[in-house]
Order: sequence, then structure tokens, then C-alpha cells
Amino acid sequence: MPLLEPPPVGATALPAGTFDGATVLVTGGGTGLGKAIASEFARLGAAIVVASRKDEHLEAGRVALEELGAAVLTVACDIRDPDQVAGAVDAAVAADGFGLPSVLVNNAAANFPVPAEDMSPNAWRTVVDITLNGTFFCSRELARRHLAAGTPASIICVGASYAWTGGPGFAHSAAAKAGVKNMVETLAVEWGPYGIQVNGLVPGLFPHADMTADIRGNLDRTSEKDACQPALRVGRLRELGWAATFLASPYARFVSGHTLVVDGANWQRRTLTNPPVITVREQMGMGPFEG
Ligand code: HXC
Ligand code: NAP
Repeated sequence: MPLLEPPPVGATALPAGTFDGATVLVTGGGTGLGKAIASEFARLGAAIVVASRKDEHLEAGRVALEELGAAVLTVACDIRDPDQVAGAVDAAVAADGFGLPSVLVNNAAANFPVPAEDMSPNAWRTVVDITLNGTFFCSRELARRHLAAGTPASIICVGASYAWTGGPGFAHSAAAKAGVKNMVETLAVEWGPYGIQVNGLVPGLFPHADMTADIRGNLDRTSEKDACQPALRVGRLRELGWAATFLASPYARFVSGHTLVVDGANWQRRTLTNPPVITVREQMGMGPFEG
């Protein structure tokens, strides 16, 4: 029997209005998991700021979140650029009905499968720059504003479980996510005395329609996604959203420096007799390395 299905879409675990009056900034909040996380904050009353690069993603986020009744501000922003990050926070501060976000969800990230030996220096840099550096720049910007104002905040950094295990075929992303997990632990201690909570949130396998072709193509090599999970099912997007709203809620105020894994125990699925080794090149249907 699989792990039970969660309550239906639209259910909320926290009291209605938990985030009334709060502004929540979600990077990459126009697609996939970011949109799902933003949706759960929206259901609980938050005004949502969506920051990412592409107009079509920003617009998709706006439409979805406005349908839930939320006030939505979209800001074009590449999180690799600290000035653009500052500009996004300025835009929230200046907008009627928004203001300095009290919650930041660092959801934006970059990833594509590639054997390490084939990875160009720029490919490595790009993924680390978005996933690790961008997450730091956003966190730093929000913390500086709150430190200056003397106000509390909650920061959630979306990670990945290969931060602990390594991620064959994803060396850049796995290393960057390990950095994010470690950074959460440092920042939680540095900023705790100023009322700023910092946590990590690690999704397991949450397929969704916005997945990039690279990631989808990699996933589609596994036909039985449910059977490959100890939960015998993949995650439902709202399950991740509920976890995010809990971490930023008044009910989790003493939780900081923690990384919450929402993956049905998939990453602990290791034994001394794992399935036979298949090289990353074979998994990706690639021939031998030719230099
Ligand atoms: C090898 C690749 C590549 C690929 C890009 N590159 N895609 N190398 N295989 N599939 C290389 C390029 O050739 C280039 O190096 C360098 O990476 C930068 O590429 P650009 O296209 O110039 O970068 P940019 O326009 O900044 O776009 C960034 C991007 C893109 C990461 C490449 O995919 C993107 O915008 N992604 C955002 C969304 C995303 O990645 N979502 C996935 C999150 S899912 P050269 O040397 O040629 O200049 C996730 C799941 C985790 O994280 C858990 C899974 C199990
Ligand atoms: P996704 O739909 O591809 O979302 C990535 C988002 O990041 C997009 O909205 C993208 O928007 C934004 N983004 C990328 N580069 C950016 C940049 N330089 N500046 C600003 N925004 C940028 O992927 P997802 O599956 O929802 O993943 C969301 C998070 O969950 C990521 O941190 C990912 O690592 C993590 N995760 C996902 C899974 C899963 O099963 N889906 C598993 C483990 C971890 P623009 O293109 O508009 O910039």
C-alpha cells in the first residue's frame, strides 16, 4: 500500500489568514514547485511577489495566484545579479499592498543532466551561479533590509537530497545544493539573534508540467516512477507547499537551521546490494568519452 494520499487541493493545514498582511517573495514562483509553494502562501492570505527572468513564467505565476485571490507583483530578475535582486526587493517595498517581504522562498535553481567529464566550465559556473550564488544574494539582500529595519523574517531555501549523497550526472547542481544546505546552517546562527529564521526544504520527486526538457527527458528514462519510491508514489505539489508554509508560520518559530526533507524516505533507500552499477553515460544513452 502506498503512503496515503494527502488532503485535496485547496485544503490548508494552518489557520485561515495565517499570512494575512504578509508579503512573501518566491524566486522562480511562476513555474513548478515555486508556483505550488506560492499558491499555498496565497491561500493563507499572503501577498505574493514572484521574481524570475522570463515574462512567460512571471505571467503564468500571476494568473495562477490571482485565481486564488492573492495580490501578485511580478518582477523580472536574474538572481545571479545582486543589483537585480535589490531591485526586486525595492519593487516590493514600493508597491501598494506589498512592502518588505517577511518571507523569502529561495526556490529558483538551475539544472541539467550531464556527465562531469563532458561539463564545460561555463556549464558548471552557470548552475553554481544561479543555485548557490543567487540563493545567497537573495538571502543577503532580505536579511540586510530586515537588520536595518529591526524586523523579523523567515527564509526558506529549496534544496535537493543529493546535497548529502552526491548526484551522479548532476555534479554542478549537487555541489551547489550541498552549499545551500550548509549556508542555511550558517545563516540561521548568524541571523537568529536578529529574529531571522533560515531553513532548508528538500523536495523528493515532484514531477510537474513546467519541468525543463532536460530534466523531463532524464526522468522519462524511468517509466515506473511510483514503484521506484518507498512511498510507492511521487510527491503531490501541495505537500511541498504545506511544508513551506509551516516552516514560515508562527508554529515553527523555534525551527531554524533545519532542512526538512519531503520525499517519502526516498533518499535513505540504500543498501549494500544496490542495483548493478550503470555508468552515467550509459544511463544517458551516450557512447564512450572521446575527449
Ligand atoms: C550540457 C549544457 C546544457 C546541457 C546548458 N549547458 N544546457 N551543457 N548539457 N543540457 C551549458 C551551455 O552549453 C553553456 O555552456 C552553459 O551551460 C550555460 O548555458 P546557457 O544556455 O547560456 O545558460 P542560461 O541561458 O543562463 O540558462 C541556464 C540553464 C537553463 C541552466 C542552462 O537550463 C535554465 O535557464 N534553467 C532554469 C530552470 C532549471 O534549470 N530548472 C531545473 C530545476 S530542477 P558553454 O560552455 O556552451 O558556454 C532541479 C531538480 C533537482 O533542480 C533534483 C533532480 C533529481
Ligand atoms: P523549474 O520549474 O524549472 O523552476 C525553476 C525556476 O527558477 C523557474 O521558475 C525559473 O524562472 C527560475 N530561475 C532559473 N534561473 C533563474 C535566475 N537566474 N534568476 C531568477 N530565476 C531563475 O523547476 P522546479 O522543479 O519547480 O524546481 C524548483 C526547485 O525545487 C529548485 O530549487 C529545484 O532544484 C528543486 N527541486 C525540484 C525537484 C523536482 O522534483 N521538481 C526535486 C528536487 C529539488 P525563469 O526561467 O523565468 O527565470
